[in-house]
Amino acid sequence: MANVIVVGAQFGDEGKAKVTDLLSKNADVVVRYQGGSNAGHTVVVDGETYKFHLIPSGILYSGTMCILGPGMVIDPKAFISELDALKKRGLDDSKLKVSATAHVTMPYHLAIDAAEEDSRGGRKIGTTKRGIGPTYADKCDRIGIRIEDLLDPDALLGKLEWLVPKKNIILERLYNLPQQSVDAIFKEYIEYGRKMQRYVCDTSAIIFESVHERKNILFEGAQGTLLDLDHGSYPYVTSSSPCAGGACIGAGVGPTIIDRVIGVSKAFQTRVGEGPFPTEQFDEVGERLRQTGTPWAEVGVTTGRPRRCGWFDAVLGRYAVRINGLDCLAITKLDVLDEFDEIQVCVAYKDRKTGDVYNDLPSMAGAFWRMEPIYETFQGWKKQTVDCRSYSDLPAGAQRYLDFISEQLHVPVALVSVGPKRDQTIVIEDPIHGPKRVLSYSNLQAPVTRSAK
Ligand code: IMP
Repeated sequence: MANVIVVGAQFGDEGKAKVTDLLSKNADVVVRYQGGSNAGHTVVVDGETYKFHLIPSGILYSGTMCILGPGMVIDPKAFISELDALKKRGLDDSKLKVSATAHVTMPYHLAIDAAEEDSRGGRKIGTTKRGIGPTYADKCDRIGIRIEDLLDPDALLGKLEWLVPKKNIILERLYNLPQQSVDAIFKEYIEYGRKMQRYVCDTSAIIFESVHERKNILFEGAQGTLLDLDHGSYPYVTSSSPCAGGACIGAGVGPTIIDRVIGVSKAFQTRVGEGPFPTEQFDEVGERLRQTGTPWAEVGVTTGRPRRCGWFDAVLGRYAVRINGLDCLAITKLDVLDEFDEIQVCVAYKDRKTGDVYNDLPSMAGAFWRMEPIYETFQGWKKQTVDCRSYSDLPAGAQRYLDFISEQLHVPVALVSVGPKRDQTIVIEDPIHGPKRVLSYSNLQAPVTRSAK
């Protein structure tokens, strides 16, 4: 029995879906604990590609319970269309559960997200325009609509009659957009409630019971550490808590049940949307990182936007280890680096203004923009890794690269992915039952100084 959290250790899109898919094989319950249809996960099984936005990819294993937890924001229209598409492909929904207390993304949230983003000018966040920020804002303002309200016509109508006129003032006066109709929203959303009813329950009670029954529970984070509302690159973040701590709040469990936290990182770094990205490459290196591995090119699954690409950033990696208490790492897309003559890893930052060197992320968000990477350079291994199935199969240069990342971040690399298929995975150490490390702030701060070559 082990209860495991899988988190993104970078800016999202780390390839978590492949890792959660592999770990779901031995999970009895998979729980998504935050975010909404801003997430986009791709999994390839037997040559078939599945794209997920709201539903945990654990649904690919029949018999695995999949939970959309209370910390999520759910667009019911997107949920139903994703579910219908999965059912058409023969997937079993009998163990799918949706928290009654998750919040609902409403049509005014979608309209306001897009309008706010367009009105920000130079202050754009680059949101996915899936209504995420406005839904969480209503939740915090205690005026949100929850899934349970979709099952109760009186409650829903009462809330809409009070809320929609307020939202219409914002839509019309602030953004010059058409008003939305209480009646139309009520009819549409009560119908969604009818379709979703069979999945809705107290998911936290189910998880609690599963812990008691000593089942294996996998908590699946969406987005990534640097997009966390509290600990990410604010304000260029999402509005939820993808970090490991968010799993307990978002699923409704106590931290004492968690056995293990696994961080997922690409072998390089990507980001979609705005915000600081010290190792971003604007030249042909960035373009090669983006295009290599096609059809797995770096394009957002949800929005189709090209991802910004750059070298692996060990400063951010150490930060992710600290903030999430990572036990080990899964490194994805190692194969993308196969043909590079040289590969760089950022081991520290230099402040462009003051010249100060940082081994850790500066606590002042404004300073993040001024960080210039200090790199260690590796010779590329120039050999294909897509057919490697063990650490010893990997070219010596690739082994050195992984060892270096592990030394820099002070956690073991347990899994390595060398392609999108399930079997294109190298297990170096059992990610769930490996030894526990004790980390201190001082050893996490200090970069390894020996030559990387
Ligand atoms: P929002 O979550 O749509 O509000 O977007 C806020 C920021 O998070 C934007 O920079 C998005 O590009 C980014 N973001 C949201 N979801 C994802 C994701 O699943 N992967 C990568 N970036 C994301």
